[in-house]
Amino acid sequence: MSLSTPLRLRRPLVVVMVGLPARGKTYIARKLAGYLSWLGYSAQVFNVGNYRRDRFGAQVPASFFDPSNSEGVESRRQAAIAALQDMVGWLRGEGQIGIYDATNSTHERRKLVREQCEAAGAAVMFVETICDDADIVESNIRQTKLSAPDYAGVDPDAAVADFRSRIAHYERAYEPIDEPDVTMVKLLEVDHQVLVQRLSGYLEGRIAHFVMNLHITPRPNWLTRHGESTANVAHVVGTDMPLTSRGAQYADALKTFLDAQAVPDVSIWTSTLQRSIQTADKLTRPTQPLKVLDEIDAGICDGMSYAQIEEQMPGEFARRKANKLGYRYPRGESYEDVIGRLDPVIIELERQQTPVLVVGHQAILRALYGYLTGRPRSEVPHLEIPMHTVMALTPRAYGCEEVRHFLGPEV
Ligand code: F6P
Repeated sequence: MSLSTPLRLRRPLVVVMVGLPARGKTYIARKLAGYLSWLGYSAQVFNVGNYRRDRFGAQVPASFFDPSNSEGVESRRQAAIAALQDMVGWLRGEGQIGIYDATNSTHERRKLVREQCEAAGAAVMFVETICDDADIVESNIRQTKLSAPDYAGVDPDAAVADFRSRIAHYERAYEPIDEPDVTMVKLLEVDHQVLVQRLSGYLEGRIAHFVMNLHITPRPNWLTRHGESTANVAHVVGTDMPLTSRGAQYADALKTFLDAQAVPDVSIWTSTLQRSIQTADKLTRPTQPLKVLDEIDAGICDGMSYAQIEEQMPGEFARRKANKLGYRYPRGESYEDVIGRLDPVIIELERQQTPVLVVGHQAILRALYGYLTGRPRSEVPHLEIPMHTVMALTPRAYGCEEVRHFLGPEV
């Protein structure tokens, strides 16, 4: 098996989102697809709203969503079926995990979706989001819906009022999941409760664990490589060498940067390697050294320069060049291994309510950056992670905002 092919699954899986509008379903669906793709599955979101907009236009009146408007009901049903058919077709081909993003708010609709997916040989898992806090819903509407095509050019307050009446229509028809025989994760936001039912298997458990740790409180994640080390100067991979004087200067600049952010509460994570610890020591704040953040293990090549590897082990050099994602250093690691070991770090990053500063290494930060910015997994080993630069990444409802701060000195 090539190491870069998607992970195997016994049968495809469909994650069916359930919930009233503005409950964070699309956010969860997109984050989940990104996470699963980063792990190596072939995962894709099928958003029924996009099918509705394509077929019937983005700007329909709220009455379109009235359950007693038979024309509206039929139109929405058509959009739902079209998305479902596309997803099932994709699962019969290369697809592994389809995420069906719609309200799926009635027993009847869920039964239909489940039957079609199961007929295609897929397992089905529901993820329901429930939130009755008017302030949270209002903030979700303002963060996500006002920038949607449905409200392009519409006055924000009028748009919020219209969206509220759309929600009211859905509320009249909404049936929370109470089917006893389905696999389900129910996220009760106000009560901070998670209910799980009939979870079986590793992947379903992992998905449940991921979605229950998501939240949309905006906070930056700061990623930086350690300051320049003597290994960087010698162009050798791996090892555990100390900072150079330029590296120490960067550590000072990083302290000035962090102090200027005026965030009292920041978690600082380092690896267990000297260059990372020395960089963070200068910050004079509590830090957490984590073995899982150690640089990619170059195995028998640790301590060699790229030129030496090419000369002394041309086969290894060529194999890495041909498939940098899947290539595993003899007695060391591949990028795929690195991604696998960083899985718990991703869950921790998602869980945090306050900013996190990771003082890491090139390969590690490529993997974390790739996840946070939603870059395809195949690009991860080639991402540019410059020295002496802080990458500030703030997750937003639709994507991730990025600002790079070069702090110097030049290396
Ligand atoms: O060169 C610095 C370094 O962190 C090495 O320790 C590590 O092996 C390398 O970068 C990872 O980058 P690449 O995968 O491009 O070799």
